[in-house]
Amino acid sequence: MLILGIETSCDETAAAVIKDGRQILSNIVASQLEVHSKYGGVVPELACRKHIENIIPVIDQALSAAEISLAEIDLIAVTRGPGLIGALLVGLSTAKAIAYAHKKPLVGINHLAGHIYSVFLEYPELSFPLLALVVSGGHTELYQIRGHGDFCQLGTTLDDAAGEAFDKVAKMLALGYPGGPIIDKCAREGDPQAIPFPRPYLNKGSLDFSFSGLKTAVAVYLKKKGPPVGQEIIPHVAASFQQAVVDVLVAKTFEAARQTGSNRIILVGGVACNSLLRKEFITQGQEANVRVYYPSPYLCTDNGAMIACAAYYLFGLEGIPAPSPPAYLELDAVADLPLA
Ligand code: KG4
Ligand code: ZN
Repeated sequence: MLILGIETSCDETAAAVIKDGRQILSNIVASQLEVHSKYGGVVPELACRKHIENIIPVIDQALSAAEISLAEIDLIAVTRGPGLIGALLVGLSTAKAIAYAHKKPLVGINHLAGHIYSVFLEYPELSFPLLALVVSGGHTELYQIRGHGDFCQLGTTLDDAAGEAFDKVAKMLALGYPGGPIIDKCAREGDPQAIPFPRPYLNKGSLDFSFSGLKTAVAVYLKKKGPPVGQEIIPHVAASFQQAVVDVLVAKTFEAARQTGSNRIILVGGVACNSLLRKEFITQGQEANVRVYYPSPYLCTDNGAMIACAAYYLFGLEGIPAPSPPAYLELDAVADLPLA
């Protein structure tokens, strides 16, 4: 089964062709980094305009790199939420137009389901139940997954997402955008114990997260030290901040594993690229006898392959859905689409 996956929920215009849920024939991502980096964050209006420019060339590239024609595609899958509403609408409207013109079935995919299924591209044999930490620029959520499409939310962030905190702290340190990979690199030169930033564990046993207090603690620290802040302390701030985020993510996820009796954890979303987070999940997993899985970095950040993969497991396992235009023409983009 050949699936064309389309993703435009934030600042990447992405399309991919995958075969039978696991073989990536192409995976094209047009990043908008250049557009947004000078603002230190994604500007929604500019993101929409860039998606409009990029969407058709990106889909064309995905098909040609896969050496597949649209006529051969069995199913089109597109992200319908959560995300920036204007950005989502570009992908969804384009997908509808292509599906209608080429008489193909179309399914809408939840972006978080896409992140969860990114791990199945490399571990298709994974079995349930699973515990998932979805950690990205917009989300920090824990799910228990009991079967395909059976997601139960155990915890979420009460304020900022972990990726958002990385991006905002990088901005405070004038390190650039997106902050996650830059802090990851900069932290290697710093001492993670140098500054005792708070670990917001909330009340005991809670599986919710909160990162805005930590972000404020970094701002207060920098204010005390500057301006200007000495360049020599920046790696220590980066390392101490990163250690605080990782400590909380690890503690909460393994507490969730303990509460639910899970012995398989998946770590997905852009922040799952973080080298310290990956290392500490593996170490904790060995201690707690829990197996940890995470995708290669290029599959952690937003891409079309994860959307196509989610469509395979959520809609394609029972055969190819019928192409029914009236139903899919009514599909709407939803900025805060819940997963469960
Ligand atoms: O999943 P994603 O591509 O987009 C959303 O759905 O939000 O995640 C992007 C987020 C950004 O906040 C970025 O700073 C963060 O992932 N990120 C990282 C790393 N690489 C990307 N955060 C920490 N360490 C990294 N190495
Ligand atoms: Zn994402």
